[in-house]
Amino acid sequence: MGQTGQTTAKAARQRPPADHAQKAPKRIAIASGKGGVGKTWFAITLAGALAERGDSVLLVDGDLGLANVDVQLGLAGGRDIAAVISGQLSMDDAITRYVPHANKEDATGGFDILAGRSGSATFASLSKLELKGFSLGLHALENVYDRLIVDLGAGVDQTVMTLSGATDADAQEMSPLVVVVLTDEPTSLTDAYALIKMMAMRGSGPNIRIVVNMADDMASGKATYHSIQKACQNFLKIDPLLAGIVRRDPNVKESIRRQKSLLAGFPTTAAAKDVAKIAANLSKS
Ligand SMILES: Nc1ncnc2c1ncn2[C@@H]1O[C@H](COP(=O)(O)OP(=O)(O)OP(=O)(O)O)[C@@H](O)[C@H]1O
Ligand SMILES: [Mg+2]
Repeated sequence: MGQTGQTTAKAARQRPPADHAQKAPKRIAIASGKGGVGKTWFAITLAGALAERGDSVLLVDGDLGLANVDVQLGLAGGRDIAAVISGQLSMDDAITRYVPHANKEDATGGFDILAGRSGSATFASLSKLELKGFSLGLHALENVYDRLIVDLGAGVDQTVMTLSGATDADAQEMSPLVVVVLTDEPTSLTDAYALIKMMAMRGSGPNIRIVVNMADDMASGKATYHSIQKACQNFLKIDPLLAGIVRRDPNVKESIRRQKSLLAGFPTTAAAKDVAKIAANLSKS
């Protein structure tokens, strides 16, 4: 596996927050009901797009046992959340820097990563208290970065609820944005609805944003959004905003195959442009 631009992260953090970064919640959790809808890929690409806009960004792999951020980017193992949880490393020392461009002098779009480790203990094996402690550790990092992007596992378990801030009164205090990624498949829509319902019941309704991924075109993406929006309006009495639509793009698969960021390999391809637009939208919300 390659290690493009994986260096120490500390130096990159010694800078004041970007002005425009104050306008949106610091933590953006990327969730979905159904698996395989593109959360991890989207989280990585969003992290790069926000970094290109000038934000300092930490991408956290919140799907510990089935970690994928490291695999999609070809990162070497060792410095990861599993080492933090087992007490081998501090959170700070486990963070690595990812610079997408092969030319390391070009730091554009670089961001920090707190990686997971596939096959390690899952967050589900942690006690409620340990999980909460980890979430509070992330909260502390919100003072260091402009944005924390948390790639969550699929579904509606305790980890998803805790890391997205939808557990209890803390939700209001931390109020992260929760981006629910879905596709036009009926199972993706019904599972996304179930997730949104659980989050709305815990008071996170106003923080939910929708991303329609793998859309055939913008019009069909909008139709998909309208169908989930209608269900939420009718049955949950909430109106989740659309963060954006990402078109189906063969270069996504190709960049994952190469273990490189889409923004570095195919900066002008449809999906890269779509995510850049979403990064701009989220900076305003
Ligand atoms: N916009 C897109 N266009 C084409 N293919 C895409 C797009 N987004 C994602 N994919 C494909 O979907 C696959 C699954 O993506 P990814 O692993 O990010 O999903 P996930 O939701 O994180 O899955 P899991 O629930 O297992 O964590 C990718 O390997 C990629 O090939
Ligand atoms: Mg994933």
